[in-house]
Amino acid sequence: MHIYPVYKLWNINALKAKGCIITDDQGTEYLDFYGGHAVISIGHSHPVYVKALCDQLQHIGFYSNAIVNPLQEALAGALGRVSGYPEYSLFLCNSGAEANENALKLASFSTGRNRVLAFRNAFHGRTSGAVALTDNPSIRAPFNQCHQADFICLDDIQALESAFTRHDYAAVIIEGIQGVGGIREASAVFLATLRELCTRHHTVLIMDEIQSGYGRTGKFFAHQHAGIQADIITMAKGMGNGFPIGGLLISPHIKAVPGQLGTTFGGNHLACAAALAVLQVMQEERLMDNAREIGSYMIGALQTITAGAAQIRGRGLMIGIETDPEMLKDRNLREDLLWKGKIFTGASGPGILRLLPPLCITKEQADKLLTFLELWYTSHP
Ligand SMILES: Cc1ncc(COP(=O)(O)O)c(C=O)c1O
Repeated sequence: MHIYPVYKLWNINALKAKGCIITDDQGTEYLDFYGGHAVISIGHSHPVYVKALCDQLQHIGFYSNAIVNPLQEALAGALGRVSGYPEYSLFLCNSGAEANENALKLASFSTGRNRVLAFRNAFHGRTSGAVALTDNPSIRAPFNQCHQADFICLDDIQALESAFTRHDYAAVIIEGIQGVGGIREASAVFLATLRELCTRHHTVLIMDEIQSGYGRTGKFFAHQHAGIQADIITMAKGMGNGFPIGGLLISPHIKAVPGQLGTTFGGNHLACAAALAVLQVMQEERLMDNAREIGSYMIGALQTITAGAAQIRGRGLMIGIETDPEMLKDRNLREDLLWKGKIFTGASGPGILRLLPPLCITKEQADKLLTFLELWYTSHP
């Protein structure tokens, strides 16, 4: 039997990882500016996290949601405090797409409506509802076609207002900062208008913070930079630092009806232990502050280094570098970084590099990437 092909694979067999360093079976060390796609938040193999998971496994790893699980209550309390949404309730699941599916379902249940507004370049996952609101027809099967989805461009206030005059939406779903779409952020004015329209039309505002949340941008959620509140926030990736867990924060205005949502694995003992350890380390090591500080240092330095040859976008440790296509004609920046610089990065298509390192990245590690990029941009014709 073979493995069903999904992504293009780099031929690297990672045997261990610590902090921001991954070591392969040849003993080669790679600097991780990708975080396994924004998943590694507190760093690889953090001792507090490893101990929490091992200890939990010694006691009970899993039992179903048919019995009380005090770890879920502990996680809800900790998340409420750190996220700035203490009065919201928490529903736990296993992944990002699943979080979005449940958010959409809840919005539809609570409004009795079935139409959703989404955005150009958006990515919300590969399951049926989430992919119907993802702006990429190539990953949408005929079965996933949705005739109740509209797409408009970020920051197009006119299109937004006009969409609300045409339809009664159950929800608007928007990323805190678009990740797969190339690190694109809606303006604070656009988000404030969106918030106001959703309130006026009784539409549920879903902020997808699956990639941009969990402290990555220097605030717990990216939309908090714009000073707005969402009705539902979806989370996953950084939440478990590699242990699969996702979740929804749900406004008290949305009536909770027992039985509408459910899950077998969601919120199990091991997953909660992982998520609690992540929040503990994030706070003890002030990782949100680190994301903000190292992120703004890097964004400033990248603007100088690329000197007009690339557009730099993002916040904190969610950074996009869109290079002039002329410079990429005969060289591949991401591959050069990996094979020559031994630095892992992400990408949004061939032209946009995405930096999503663990939030514990140091200035020295940032300088290693910056030195490589400085050489790359200046040595290129
Ligand atoms: C913004 C956003 N939403 C949803 C998802 C889907 O998450 P998952 O792959 O855990 O289903 C992703 C994954 O990249 C994402 O970036």
